[in-house]
Amino acid sequence: MTPEEFRVAGHDLVDWIADLRTRVPDLPVRSSVTPGQVSAALAGPPPDWPAEFASVLADLDRVIVPGITQVQHPGYYAWFPANASLASVLGDFASSGLGALGITWQSAPALTEVEELVTDWLRQLCGLSVTWHGAIHDSASSACLVALLAARERATNLSETRGGLQAESAPLVVYASTQAHSSIPKAVLLAGFGRDNLRLIDVDPVTFSMDANALRQAMTADVADGRRPAAVVATIGTTGTTAIDPLSEIVDVAAEFDAWVHVDAAMAGSAMLLPECRWMFDGVEGADSLGWNPHKWMGTILDCSLLYVRDTAHLVRVMSTNPSYLQSAVDGEVTQYKDWGLPLGRRFRALKIWFHLRIDGAEAIRARLRRDIENAQWLRAQIESASGWQLIAPVNLQTVCVLHVPTRLVGVDGTEPDSAAVDAYTLRWVESVNATGRALITPSQVAGRWIVRVSIGAEPTERADVEQLWALMQKMVERT
Ligand SMILES: Cc1ncc(COP(=O)(O)O)c(C=O)c1O
Repeated sequence: MTPEEFRVAGHDLVDWIADLRTRVPDLPVRSSVTPGQVSAALAGPPPDWPAEFASVLADLDRVIVPGITQVQHPGYYAWFPANASLASVLGDFASSGLGALGITWQSAPALTEVEELVTDWLRQLCGLSVTWHGAIHDSASSACLVALLAARERATNLSETRGGLQAESAPLVVYASTQAHSSIPKAVLLAGFGRDNLRLIDVDPVTFSMDANALRQAMTADVADGRRPAAVVATIGTTGTTAIDPLSEIVDVAAEFDAWVHVDAAMAGSAMLLPECRWMFDGVEGADSLGWNPHKWMGTILDCSLLYVRDTAHLVRVMSTNPSYLQSAVDGEVTQYKDWGLPLGRRFRALKIWFHLRIDGAEAIRARLRRDIENAQWLRAQIESASGWQLIAPVNLQTVCVLHVPTRLVGVDGTEPDSAAVDAYTLRWVESVNATGRALITPSQVAGRWIVRVSIGAEPTERADVEQLWALMQKMVERT
């Protein structure tokens, strides 16, 4: 493709994206394709000869659009907000167009320095102190793995330079709450700690926040058994119910055992942009690392996950490699992001944050986050005053966890309803909401029973959409 051909096709593609975003509200939220349908629709031999760009675009419409769940839809309330602001889409496009190779500062000085700039802008916007330095990763899962590798190496005084964990005299232990995201146990396993050395700490039964006393007891018991507490992962905004672990207390407990504290705020980190929400992060200045995803609620297109650390010198000691072909005269003067994480090559992801912040501005993002919090509070109030409906967890941010128990399933004389029957009923009415194509909500298990998560925060979702969702939920429970 020549630059002139690209110009023509690129304009068509931008028009196509703008048209798609305009018509997303008319599409069903949930993709209804069956397994294998997409691959069958595109099947054929590998292309030996060029196709018309128009036929490629036609396949996007015919196969790809129906083959994705429309997370940019105003009726999208599933999993978590996965916003892809158009300003950041332009940044992603510019990044691809530049075709920069980020392997060292020298290979693309601007790639490194824009990443330093935007991670520091977001640090400032989040009210974090100057002691934090950030890098962009693909996901919170990778960021947590990097944090736990750094924790492991701090606890062992760089065991990687000797016999590694296998030569350590005492097992190292990692702690997180029972509500921590599945990526945390995964990172613990991949970092070599072993499942036997992961402690899932109990949570408060009402708030679902980690019990800091139980944490202290677990750490004390491990020390008594000859194990060494190495790290605690605190979650601000758990996936299930947006619970907020008591970070200040956790930081204090961890300090007693000299354990690393990683804060996983993958979804809720965006709330740091709002000064009124910063209390949720009280204690963060005592933590060692903090991960959050602008690619969730804030709306910088996937993939865009931030990992902030304080001791960058330690991180670099753990992660650095220095093959001769990557060396240059400025080493030592510049940031080499290859030494801040796992991959050598990085994309120019910083551009999508740079575009997002420059084109939209932080104030518009803050206004949208506040709108979502208000909408969640509106829905909470409806649920609190509606018969048969229960809130399952505090509505800390934009996620509302609900249960509906119809009168016929409530036990006689006020005895507990049959939980298996309520579970089956919940899954049925959620499916009937989702099958309409007008909204998508997620059933999820909390404390062993099926509940429903309504995760408000898609970029186009306004109060009228939440009102329509509430009406639809009420209608579907009546019919179920
Ligand atoms: C609290 C929390 N941590 C971690 C993750 C994993 O995020 P990622 O997909 O960026 O790995 C999620 C995803 O929903 C999450 O909610």
